[in-house]
Amino acid sequence: MNPAWTPESWRGKPALQQPSYPDPAALQSALDELRALPPLVTSWEIVALREQLADAAAGRRFVLQAGDCAERFSDCTPARITRKLKVLLQMSLVLVTGARKPVVRIGRLGGQYAKPRSEDLETRGPVTLPSYRGDLINAPEFTPAARTPDPQRLLRGYERAGLTLNFLRALVKGGFADLHHPEYFDLEWVRHSPQAEEYHRTAAHITEALQFMENILGIRAGDTDRIDFFTAHEALHLGYESAQTRRVPHRPGFFNLSAHFPWLGIRTAQPLGAHVEYLRGIQNPIGIKVGPQTSNGQLLSLLDILDPHNLPGRLSLIHRCGAQNLNGHLPRLITTVRRAGRTPLWICDPMHGNTRSTSTGLKTRNFDEIQDELERSFDIHSSLGSQLGGVHIELTGEDVTECTGGARGLSESDLARAYESEVDPRLNYEQSIELAFLIARKMKSSL
Ligand code: PEP
Ligand code: CO
Repeated sequence: MNPAWTPESWRGKPALQQPSYPDPAALQSALDELRALPPLVTSWEIVALREQLADAAAGRRFVLQAGDCAERFSDCTPARITRKLKVLLQMSLVLVTGARKPVVRIGRLGGQYAKPRSEDLETRGPVTLPSYRGDLINAPEFTPAARTPDPQRLLRGYERAGLTLNFLRALVKGGFADLHHPEYFDLEWVRHSPQAEEYHRTAAHITEALQFMENILGIRAGDTDRIDFFTAHEALHLGYESAQTRRVPHRPGFFNLSAHFPWLGIRTAQPLGAHVEYLRGIQNPIGIKVGPQTSNGQLLSLLDILDPHNLPGRLSLIHRCGAQNLNGHLPRLITTVRRAGRTPLWICDPMHGNTRSTSTGLKTRNFDEIQDELERSFDIHSSLGSQLGGVHIELTGEDVTECTGGARGLSESDLARAYESEVDPRLNYEQSIELAFLIARKMKSSL
């Protein structure tokens, strides 16, 4: 590696999507405080995830990466955290039935608080203010006080990430696996689906398999000292990320200890930019969002800079083409990577290429397009001798109405009922479980 790398060497490169703080000294002191706090995750967990992702790239595991587009500080409540874990664990159980291999669970949580925005400023009538960039930076209300970036939010976000992870770890360890009992699967919606019978069969199959494990093998699901979920967020706010980037005893290199799996967003993936500079020097496995706007040359540069040694598990390419652009771009991305002799893990994000605005200006996504992009991605990979090894979904455990479609047939006029997201629209609990059933069915049919 170029010896000039340090956790702060990104400061010498152009950094997009960074907030502009009115008081640089206040920012500095918040970052100094952050640097002194204990880490959220450990290097051995990070290395374990890298090994599991290497397995997934080799076809031995399947990855479910999911969670909010943007966590909000107000979501740090026991009920919301519990429901988020529940939807993630239930989806992963459903996916196991289709993949017939272990599922690696990665939450977009415990720090997914910073958002890239297409505009730095937002204008309403005569007033122009900085855009909302996520709770780590400012607040969504359209007032000068709320929109001014506040460095204290970096600390509040870090603390909430810590509280979230602390509770999740306790739930996973303390028998939250009870959620596999049939009464914990909310399958009310299933009767609206033409596949109702098949879904009930899958759910019954899961219950039976878990009971077999418990009664015959004496193993309780979730009854393990090894963590069985990992955390991820977009590595966007480079001050925050680098303040948590450290050396650890007995292992070479630097680790970002604020998440197991940071990813590079599509808006900050310039090979000569600050985000790539930062990510190239850390030992964590990293995700790279790729899509129609990613040129072949850019993709090859990213592979060379971020993974010069072709280390198994190091890179996951998360493609987000959109159903309409899939045929035009996914084959090109896969072929480019293969010709370079690379074997990263491929993950499909069927959300970010399928965002549209309703006539009333709400951002939404349609369930059928999400399903379509996912199912065709499996086919395109296999037709090119490649393999789709995971999915990346924006969802919530709540009963929101942000995406249209699904078994209940949510329409645009239903969206106003429970639209919460300040940024991208998420699948609700029912839509998420339904999508898991559909992905499982797709995987089963391709075995
Ligand atoms: C996101 O994952 O929320 C996001 C902004 O994605 P992308 O960088 O792919 O647009
Ligand atoms: Co998003």
